[in-house]
Amino acid sequence: MYNSFEQLKKDCLSCQKCGLASTRNKVVFGIGDQHSPVMFVGEGPGEQEDLKGEPFVGRAGQLLDKLLMAVDLDRSNVYIANIVKCRPPKNRDPLPEEQEACIGYLREQFRLIRPKMIVCLGRVAAQKLISPDFKVTQQHGQWIEKNGTLMMGTYHPAALLRNPNNKPFALEDFVKIKEKIDEIKASN
Ligand code: URA
Repeated sequence: MYNSFEQLKKDCLSCQKCGLASTRNKVVFGIGDQHSPVMFVGEGPGEQEDLKGEPFVGRAGQLLDKLLMAVDLDRSNVYIANIVKCRPPKNRDPLPEEQEACIGYLREQFRLIRPKMIVCLGRVAAQKLISPDFKVTQQHGQWIEKNGTLMMGTYHPAALLRNPNNKPFALEDFVKIKEKIDEIKASN
């Protein structure tokens, strides 16, 4: 357990816990407001993220920015991280053992940030954090309370690039997220 975000980040940046350490360029720790009520969690870094060391900076990231902007948010007032912090070769799904090796860093990020809401971007994050049989098409946009934190799964922006017909559904989910943020702000 860490009591300093900086120490957690430092250890994560030199991590050798799984095979992805040998193929990565940069560890992608996470970015944003450590005091935000909402954390977005993706699957793992892609090519651009691996080069830059920052999550969601490629095409999928641009779409994430658009969705955030559509509901008056941006990446400076949320926190964005991934299930695995290093790029899986050729962007394959992270293996169960890679997810297991890495998840401790994300759990420490949750513990230190203490978000009110965690939004899982796509199947890999939703199945790891909400339920192993989570189905994005059927369950996206539903709030599920887990250990006092509201969890939601929604479409991964990369999946929306492949299937733009789902963009309106994703936008509805983002509207719900913004409404919840406003609700929490109003009750503070
Ligand atoms: N896809 C992800 O799941 N995460 C990123 O950071 C970028 C693309």
